[in-house]
Amino acid sequence: MPHWPTTPLTERFGLRYPIIQAPMASAATAELAAAVANAGGLGSYGFAMTPVDRLADEIAAIRRLTNQPVNFNFFCHAPPVPDPERDQQMADRLAPLYAAFDLSPPAGPAAAPYPTFSEAHLEILLPALPTIVSFQFGLPPRFHIEALKAAGAFIIGTATTVEEAVWLVEHGADVICAQGFEAGGHRGTFLRDPAASEIGTLALVPQVVDAVRCPVIAAGGIMDGRGIAAALMLGAAAVQMGTAFLGCPEAKVQPLHRRALHAGTDTRLTKAYSGRSARGIANRLIETLAAHEAEIPDFPLQQHFSRPLNAASALRGSTECLQMWAGQGAPLLRERPAAELLKMLAHEAAALLA
Ligand SMILES: Cc1cc2nc3c(=O)[nH]c(=O)nc-3n(C[C@H](O)[C@H](O)[C@H](O)COP(=O)(O)O)c2cc1C
Repeated sequence: MPHWPTTPLTERFGLRYPIIQAPMASAATAELAAAVANAGGLGSYGFAMTPVDRLADEIAAIRRLTNQPVNFNFFCHAPPVPDPERDQQMADRLAPLYAAFDLSPPAGPAAAPYPTFSEAHLEILLPALPTIVSFQFGLPPRFHIEALKAAGAFIIGTATTVEEAVWLVEHGADVICAQGFEAGGHRGTFLRDPAASEIGTLALVPQVVDAVRCPVIAAGGIMDGRGIAAALMLGAAAVQMGTAFLGCPEAKVQPLHRRALHAGTDTRLTKAYSGRSARGIANRLIETLAAHEAEIPDFPLQQHFSRPLNAASALRGSTECLQMWAGQGAPLLRERPAAELLKMLAHEAAALLA
């Protein structure tokens, strides 16, 4: 393996390579995070969809597989505002899709399928002495951040604009993950409308590097050694790659989704699945709601309407309503076990950087 230069993050996090497997709540497995961590990268685990009473067990499952640092990731969105009229409108709008999959429209008012980061999470997290904790959609209150830091954790915040990066540092982040427009999954945007925060990785990373004093992670559209080398040249101290790891057998990904990634040139930003802007491969559900994004229930209430369609789609072997998060680099996907992929990425990037 060629010599890797150290970066402020390889030193701070004790990594062999400045490569982070992105937290991906919908695809998270302990095996994926541990495989990357044990191979010298930073493995991550997205806990956003983990019920609080499962949190300790899932942390223990990761710890059984690795004693290396792992990035624990949470969402900290504002709690949604219920709106029964909007719920009804959504059920009506999606009626043809429910009928196509022989489903009844979901009953009752939409309920949030998972909570925002709270003191309940903190109580379980603190005794686990997390080394790295990252947040999407802003940060939790200052006293949560202080408690995590007192327990020895570094805090990563996700920014999609320079303004968000500066805000995150002012509110306690130690490291910024600069997430470009190309990124798969949810956009971390939290200060302005996502439509006003659509900056590509190539433009965003150097501006964030210039604006903050802390280490910056580049995310969005990075799929191979070329992307890694380019991001480091822009001043990033590490890269965070999500879509690239969806081809690993350790990731929890529907086979249909994985297959679609190879041809995934038509990705869209959509609120159709969760109520918050996220990038995925275009399909019938996304098309159906494309002109009605303003009517979609608050994040994450929209999952009340999309989950049954996603599940039915998977069961029927159809991509029509399947949630297929993907970054714009998806067709560059290579299917490999995570440790092998990580080493291949490191090798490619090191050769270019040399
Ligand atoms: C399937 C999927 C799920 C994701 N889930 C999360 C998540 O739970 N938390 C988070 O902070 N980011 C999440 N992201 C975004 C990633 O952290 C990262 O910003 C993104 O994958 C980078 O772009 P790329 O997919 O082009 O590599 C997700 C991305 C994907 C593709």
